[in-house]
Amino acid sequence: MQAEVFVNQLIKWHQTQKRELPWRGIADPYKIWLSEIILQQTRVNQGLPYYLRFIAAYPTVQDLANASEAEVLRLWQGLGYYSRARNLHACAKMVVNEYNGSFPNNFDELLKLKGIGRYTAAAIASLAFNKANAVVDGNVYRVLSRVFGITNDISEAKTQKVFEAKANAMIPADQPGDFNQALMDFGATHCTPKKPLCITCPFQAECFAFNKGMIDQLPVKTKK
Ligand code: ADE
Repeated sequence: MQAEVFVNQLIKWHQTQKRELPWRGIADPYKIWLSEIILQQTRVNQGLPYYLRFIAAYPTVQDLANASEAEVLRLWQGLGYYSRARNLHACAKMVVNEYNGSFPNNFDELLKLKGIGRYTAAAIASLAFNKANAVVDGNVYRVLSRVFGITNDISEAKTQKVFEAKANAMIPADQPGDFNQALMDFGATHCTPKKPLCITCPFQAECFAFNKGMIDQLPVKTKK
């Protein structure tokens, strides 16, 4: 389907169906960064209480940088992937020591920070700084592969850039953050891995996967 139609419908869908989350509508890069790191490999429902505890314990990036690693790891307990917590702490220190306590405001500079990959850099750049950098996560793979019939194997590292290019070609310059959130929310709540809600999907008529009966085959993933 035409990219422009997709973007408009998606943003319209989001206006009524978006999830209300505590970091939404807040442009503080620290809070956005923290929420995105916590939500990697963690579902929103599980991550939410951790986010709230972290913000209560460390309201600013300086507070987090000043904490001991043991304390940070203790607050992280239960989330798993402890390297994420160590990177979180290291990143806070980098922001304080090398960037004067302010997160850099663009994708390339954000990528230099500890624990920040392409997804997180794009999330912060778009949500905190209104930059037109599209995020690519599992939700984005699913929605774009199904709607547009992208059949690249998402188990291959190089595929991330294929989806990034597609999403970057569509992301509206005047509301990049809304677009990114909408795409992720749509993937998380509507275009789900199993039993997606095709019946009420705004893209059903033009969805590649729906029309070809390929919902179960997209995205293509050959390895775990
Ligand atoms: N999952 C992780 N980050 C998210 C975000 N910003 N919006 C929706 N789902 C998400």
